[in-house]
Amino acid sequence: MLRIGMLTSGGDCQALNAAMRGIFKGITRNTTEPVEFYGFEDGYKGLMNSRFRLLTEDDFANILTVGGTILGTSRVPFKTIHDPLPDGRDKVASMKQTYYKLQLDCLVVLGGNGSVKTANLLSQEGLNIITLPKTIDNDLWGTDMTFGFQSAVDIATRCIDEIHTTASAHGRVFIVEVMGHKVGWLTLNAGIAGGADIILLPEIPYDLNNIVNVIENRDRNGKRFTIIAAAEGAISKSDAKLSKKDYQKKLEKYTFPSVSYELADQITKKTGREVRVTVPGHIQRGGAPVAYDRVFASRIGAEGAKFILKKKFGVMVGYKNREIITVPLDQVAGRLKTLDPNADIIKEAKFIGISFGDD
Ligand code: F6P
Repeated sequence: MLRIGMLTSGGDCQALNAAMRGIFKGITRNTTEPVEFYGFEDGYKGLMNSRFRLLTEDDFANILTVGGTILGTSRVPFKTIHDPLPDGRDKVASMKQTYYKLQLDCLVVLGGNGSVKTANLLSQEGLNIITLPKTIDNDLWGTDMTFGFQSAVDIATRCIDEIHTTASAHGRVFIVEVMGHKVGWLTLNAGIAGGADIILLPEIPYDLNNIVNVIENRDRNGKRFTIIAAAEGAISKSDAKLSKKDYQKKLEKYTFPSVSYELADQITKKTGREVRVTVPGHIQRGGAPVAYDRVFASRIGAEGAKFILKKKFGVMVGYKNREIITVPLDQVAGRLKTLDPNADIIKEAKFIGISFGDD
């Protein structure tokens, strides 16, 4: 008997279900051993509190195209992993207890950065763990791609597309704030795809004067509007120079909902222009996965199933140079994949006139 546990952890994204379906189909169609699948509810919380259900073929039918996760998810920040549960139990011990009680052969964790840290800890504690790279942020170290990313790029791109007509009609400056946490992959790709005039990324601090220059140049050239794709983690050059402590102090007194609103205020003050902010927010994580993510998550699921059957554990299934690979969890945990400001894609974007607000 093969017993496999599965959970989805952290912020959801498109194609989580497609990846789990890939695991299920890959395992059940390639072993003669009887298999039991245990789905833990709401991520690590389900594992800690022994909340699970047996998953059957029916659970995996018709989910390839469905967003969200059939298991539910939650965030259990890694920094709190050694804090006791409300009833005093130890989180790590509780997870191990559930794993051993069910006599699992492997636990599959679909997760991003925070979730991989916990997965790595469980792996070091002796559990057989395999992780699949999910996140719209595409910031997982060790893999070129994460599932959910391309779907989110499409949604953010559509938002920038739609803003064009209203921006043009009113002759306004629009800031579309794109998710991505501390990295700019999503904003960069959606910004280029949506034809943004300015793209602001956490990896490339901006100078307000450069942004104003672009807007005024466009005005002079008879363009009625300017579209700025700003990452939620975008940062000005002056803020980037602050020490961590001073930046924290600034944030404590911060009255804007996010960086885009602060920027909008600054642009209006400098130019007298009408500026509007659009924040698509969690819409970017919602709805059906695009075809790319369905294919990618199915491949990751299939390859994950192969590694489980081969009993290769303690790894994340990833994708490098167009090949599916595995990366040891202790190499992935705690490392962020940020954009290189000198990457070709950024040079090419600059070459075709997109400003990053840095020069
Ligand atoms: O990590 C995915 C992500 O959507 C980030 O882009 C964003 O910063 C964060 O999650 C939002 O988190 P929450 O869903 O907890 O509001």
